[in-house]
Amino acid sequence: MQKVAIYPGSFDPITNGHISIIKRALKVVDKLIVVVAENSEKNPLFKIEERVKLIADLGIENTHVKSFKGLLVDCAKQENVNIVIRGLRAVSDFDYEFQLALANRRMNRELETVFLMTDYKYSYLSSSMLKDMAKYGGNIEGLVPENVKNKLKERFLSYGDN
Ligand code: PNS
Repeated sequence: MQKVAIYPGSFDPITNGHISIIKRALKVVDKLIVVVAENSEKNPLFKIEERVKLIADLGIENTHVKSFKGLLVDCAKQENVNIVIRGLRAVSDFDYEFQLALANRRMNRELETVFLMTDYKYSYLSSSMLKDMAKYGGNIEGLVPENVKNKLKERFLSYGDN
C-alpha cells in the first residue's frame, strides 16, 4: 500500500527550504499532498491560486498541490491521509509546532505529525524574511526557485532589482 502524507503550510511563497522538506519527505512516503492554507495568514502577499500555481509549476514528482480552508484535520480526513509532515528549523519553531501537533491529534487520534529537520542551509529562512529581502532589493538568489524569484520581482518592481 502506498504511503501518502500531507504537507500543509501558508507557502507565501514557497522557498527552497520548503522544497528541501518536500524532497526529503518523499524519501519517507510515496506521495505527498502539499496543501496551501487559505486562512493561516490574514494578509498574504500572494493569492491562494498564485501560491498553489507557484508550487504546481515546479512539477515535483509524486507531489500533488491543493488549497484548503478550515481545519487541517478535516483536510487530512478528506484526503484520507493520517500523516502530516512539518519542517523544523530551530528550537524557536518547537513551541508552535508542538501545540499544532497536539491540537491536531486531539481532534483526530489517528493523525501523526512527522517532523523533518530543515537543511542547515535554509535553517534561518522564512517566507516573511524572504519577502522583506525581496521587497527592499536584497539578494534572494539560491533561496527560492526561478518562478518564485520572477514572481517576487514582478510584485516588488518598484522597490529595486530583486
Ligand atoms: O506555514 P505555516 O503558516 O507555518 O502553516 C501553518 C498551518 C497552515 C499548517 C496551520 O496554521 C494550520 O494548520 N491552519 C489551519 C487551521 C488549523 O487546523 N489549525 C490547527 C488546529 S486549531
